[in-house]
Amino acid sequence: MFEASTYSARRENLRKEISEGLILILGNQEASMNYPANTYHYRQDSNFLYFFGLDQPDLAGVIDIDSGTEIIFGNDVTMDDIIWMGPQPLMKDRAARVGVDNTKPFTDLAPYLQNVLNSGRKIHITPPYRGDHWMMLHSLFNKDINDIKAFVSEELIRGIVKLRAVKDEHEVREIEKAVDIAYEMHTTAMKMAMPGVVEREIAGAIEGISLSMGGPVSFPVILSINGQTLHNHYHGNTLREGRMMVTDAGAETPMHYASDITRTVPVGGKFNQRQKEIYEIVLAANNNVIDACKPGISYKNMHLLAARTIAEGLISLGIMKGNAEDAVAQGAHALFFPHGLGHMMGLDVHDMEGLGENYVGYDEEVTRSDQFGLAFLRMGRKLEPGFVMTDEPGIYFIPALIDQWKKEKKFEGFINYEKVETYKDFGGIRIEDDLLITRDGCRVLGKPIPKSIADIEATMRS
Ligand code: GLY
Ligand code: MN
Repeated sequence: MFEASTYSARRENLRKEISEGLILILGNQEASMNYPANTYHYRQDSNFLYFFGLDQPDLAGVIDIDSGTEIIFGNDVTMDDIIWMGPQPLMKDRAARVGVDNTKPFTDLAPYLQNVLNSGRKIHITPPYRGDHWMMLHSLFNKDINDIKAFVSEELIRGIVKLRAVKDEHEVREIEKAVDIAYEMHTTAMKMAMPGVVEREIAGAIEGISLSMGGPVSFPVILSINGQTLHNHYHGNTLREGRMMVTDAGAETPMHYASDITRTVPVGGKFNQRQKEIYEIVLAANNNVIDACKPGISYKNMHLLAARTIAEGLISLGIMKGNAEDAVAQGAHALFFPHGLGHMMGLDVHDMEGLGENYVGYDEEVTRSDQFGLAFLRMGRKLEPGFVMTDEPGIYFIPALIDQWKKEKKFEGFINYEKVETYKDFGGIRIEDDLLITRDGCRVLGKPIPKSIADIEATMRS
């Protein structure tokens, strides 16, 4: 947990963003897996963590804009709780650790909010993303579920995005810790990527590293020799020579800051010529973005830079043809790079995505494209110092997509389908780093994770 003053300052800054009324931030409850008492690993809501810091279930925080009052609603534990969970600090002591003086039992929250509503004041909430919260808001506000959406406040969303988008030095340090855990996860995966090993052996080992070094993984591990499927969570394949293994995995620190790293390595430890050629293109795209990122540049332009690098590389191999700039302008490269370059990262691996991607990644100046591929870009707007971004270009040979485009004779002037056919057994390559935007450029966060062909081969040999 940070100092109490950090949370107080964050709430004060949020108050300045909202004109009137009351902000309600619900913490998360436990969520059951297969019967009520068998719960998933508990995850607190990230907005609650950011403004109220406490990492336990069944809490709610209130910030009254008009009076300046701050209250945490939550119950002191009972003897039954102590028997099962051990002793817990009193609510007032927990609240004091995040700079809040006022606490009330959770049962007081409903009448408190009813009172606010009856006096005609506004209540601001963030978009609920769990069924439990919809149900709770229904009873807290005594309103029909369909009427809850009206409380979701654009003013609050914009205020939170403004604050959480810029990471301070303490947050950056936490993210770097998460990347350093990812270093151990990825170098372990590299060393294990040998023929005969089953994907789940590696996926399980690296998830264990995350748990043993701080917290759970920041999202379910993506690890596959079928990297052409972008988010492949199936871990049942046996590794064999000639395939590449994509590992997209990150950790959460105990304070819930995330990392998100992807590496792609040749099974067995030695790149063949075809793998080398495609890998170098993706690596150039990743590195060109690192070289070009700085405040004032839009991430949409960084995406287009990566796309041009990929198109140029594929043209040089005869997989694409024509002019790279024109190909990218028309979207032909998206056959091979059908996703966005990256997203913000922080307390959420896709930071603040629950508030709405367009609020986080776009603004009046840069709006979302509807072109296939570019439309999936989560972050398009101008970079500012303190933003933490993922840089994750890739090249994929997706047989079903290739077949569809070929049948439709799509972009025949840019795509050499005859050559593409010979890559249908290739799979995919993605390379992902986490970048901090600095005053005049960017910095790759954490201990450098092997990325060049020489460094990956050396790691896999060791
Ligand atoms: N690392 C998974 C993703 O960014 O979607
Ligand atoms: Mn990512």
